[in-house]
Amino acid sequence: MSDFPSFLSALRPEVDEALGRLLPDAETAPAELHEAMRYSVFAGGKRVRPALVVLAGEAWGGAREDLLVGGAALEMVHTFSLIHDDLPALDDDDLRRGRPTLHRARGEAMAVLAGDALLNRAYEVLAREPASAPPERRLEAVRVVADAVGTAGMIGGQVFDLQHEGAVRGSGADAESLERIHRLKTGALIEASTRLGGVYAGAGPDGIEQAGRIGAELGLLFQIGDDILDEVGSSEELGKTPGKDRQAGKLTYPGLFGLEGSREKARQAADRCLALVEGLPSGRELFRALVAFLVHRGS
Ligand code: IPE
Ligand code: IPE
Ligand code: MG
Ligand code: MG
Ligand code: MG
Repeated sequence: MSDFPSFLSALRPEVDEALGRLLPDAETAPAELHEAMRYSVFAGGKRVRPALVVLAGEAWGGAREDLLVGGAALEMVHTFSLIHDDLPALDDDDLRRGRPTLHRARGEAMAVLAGDALLNRAYEVLAREPASAPPERRLEAVRVVADAVGTAGMIGGQVFDLQHEGAVRGSGADAESLERIHRLKTGALIEASTRLGGVYAGAGPDGIEQAGRIGAELGLLFQIGDDILDEVGSSEELGKTPGKDRQAGKLTYPGLFGLEGSREKARQAADRCLALVEGLPSGRELFRALVAFLVHRGS
């Protein structure tokens, strides 16, 4: 299959089944919390990160069943990051995945706690599943995700993102800060996705490193696309309110390089990615389709 959207939609039911199985039941107490977690997880995300775990893992011969566990855990982490990113104290957004944001729908307290609970659940899953995997492999999976979420990863990136809100533009240092923000706030979890694929597949240190390098470039490409879509997308396409970056004075690719300049930066990241993809043991065609999808995506 060389068409990435078809791969994504074929995989979606499998990802959703894994998530449904690995999340607490909505009826179990505290039902309000469990229902809130599911409200955000099953709101209609694209499931790009689970797809990357599967794509990278299968390139090294990993088992789909195991990869879906890692993919579901990363989707929980990602959803936590979105719930908290939307809070009034951060980006203050009302719409996410085509629905009112969790704090709008269920209140701020439940949004904070559902985010915490999703992050924690992800680690519970990574530590315990797949039960048949050697314990060292599960430990490595926890380590990969913890490094990506932490202060030198997504959370650190979110802090740099906030610190640069409304910053005066135009110095050479801006481009460096911008790339750092994007590589951390978004790139780190996408890099963790491909790394995790390598971990579950038993790709060994070199294979995991190779998978991680591809993920890092994919992550930068992904966030440049997110910035472009904030400028040119509609709320129907995105399921979130466009124009928020400009309004908040965020440091973004279009803000710094313009739309055409941003597209050029995206193409450069795509080219770096495609060069790395050549070194994969298999699955090169689907990775190329993924890169094309990320360069042209409309949501
Ligand atoms: C949005 O991610 C936030 C970023 C990190 C750029 P996605 O575009 O993957 O959002 P969903 O999961 O499809 O909702
Ligand atoms: C996403 O950055 C980073 C994380 C959620 C960790 P954005 O703030 O640009 O994401 P959107 O545009 O709200 O989805
Ligand atoms: Mg943000
Ligand atoms: Mg945001
Ligand atoms: Mg954005």
